[in-house]
Amino acid sequence: MNFNLSEEQLMIQQAARDFAQTELLPGVIERDREQKFPHEQVKKMGELGFLGMFVDPKYGGAGMDYISYVVAMEEISKVDASAAVVMSVNNSLVCAGLEAYASEEQKMKYLVPLATGEVIGAFGLSEPEAGSDATSQKTTAIDMGDHYLLNGTKNWITNGGNASTYIVIAQTYPERKHKGINAFIVERSWEGFDIGPKEDKMGIRGSDTHSLLFNDVKVPKENRIGEDGFGFSFAMNVLNGGRIGIASQALGIASGAYELALQYAKTRKAFGTEIINHQAIAFKLADMHTQIMAARMLCYKAAAEKNEGKDISESGAMAKLYASQVAMDTTIEAVQIHGGYGYVKEYHVERMMRDAKITQIYEGTSEIQKIVISRSISKK
Ligand code: CAA
Repeated sequence: MNFNLSEEQLMIQQAARDFAQTELLPGVIERDREQKFPHEQVKKMGELGFLGMFVDPKYGGAGMDYISYVVAMEEISKVDASAAVVMSVNNSLVCAGLEAYASEEQKMKYLVPLATGEVIGAFGLSEPEAGSDATSQKTTAIDMGDHYLLNGTKNWITNGGNASTYIVIAQTYPERKHKGINAFIVERSWEGFDIGPKEDKMGIRGSDTHSLLFNDVKVPKENRIGEDGFGFSFAMNVLNGGRIGIASQALGIASGAYELALQYAKTRKAFGTEIINHQAIAFKLADMHTQIMAARMLCYKAAAEKNEGKDISESGAMAKLYASQVAMDTTIEAVQIHGGYGYVKEYHVERMMRDAKITQIYEGTSEIQKIVISRSISKK
């Protein structure tokens, strides 16, 4: 395994770092406080190719590899985890799912505007009573001949209020359990489709999270993705890739908090010296640095395997499980190192601590990652 980034990957890293510093940092505290979606910034992310990073250029994407995606996600997440999740969902759950499994007509109609960032997408799997237990879908899509009739509710949907294109998972044949589930492309403007109120969240407050309400929505037959009954397998495979995105987001939150804590520890004085000279602080930073490097290696490994077309269910789950724990541990310690300053908004680390928590919950909780990993190792 080559641990060095290529020239191209280094350029992407620099571009993402510059973008984060100049475009995301200035308003990040205000967007968090006021729950403001980063409209302008997301538009610019599209122009830079960050919203369809690994999509083939023939479908409007930037044609990059998955390591580049991890590298860019880390840089964006260091500064603004909310903008990063908009990017992750659009790339890994929506664009990647369409590129891998949609028909050519569906790709031309829906993937191109999503990959260029002209519109953004959302992924609707979770329901009020089906989060971790994703096979228990209550949303139904009844086959009416030339269309499906979609009814039900989806919960906690990232990009829910600002998306134009939604991938929606629904049950068509309840007696077949997960093999009766389908995935559909749904347009926001369709009759009977309403967006619920915005959730007031602990963290990633600049991103928007809503429920989706479907009341007799007519979904044309040609908007089903893949074969009849392919929806659950579709969702699982898409989430395997999504977990690389969230692992990279967690990595970025951790490394952003670590960099701020290191900088602070080198300048803040207590007991006659910079606090980094106190072992109590220096050892915290040593642990953070080591754990972040280990998380980065797991993200790169999963991304390298994705580039090679391998099954990444295990490596993606390991990267997400570990990186999200590191994000939590690191941000808590970053607040501690900052002392009283860490508890106020101006110093960023309290926001990072709040943002970190969701990485242990969405796109599969840490407990679900352990189910995926343990089932994978028991098969070997
Ligand atoms: N990759 C590919 N296929 C998988 C898979 C994986 N990681 N995990 C399970 N499957 C397949 C199984 O092989 C099986 O298929 P077959 O019957 O054809 O063999 C099928 O899925 C059902 O699997 P199980 O029998 O293991 O079902 P289960 O109910 O015991 O467990 C689960 C399934 C792994 C727990 C699954 O429900 C799961 O991953 N749950 C978590 C869902 C999740 O991540 N939700 C996040 C929502 S999206 C989100 O957060 C979006 C956002 O806006 C940010």
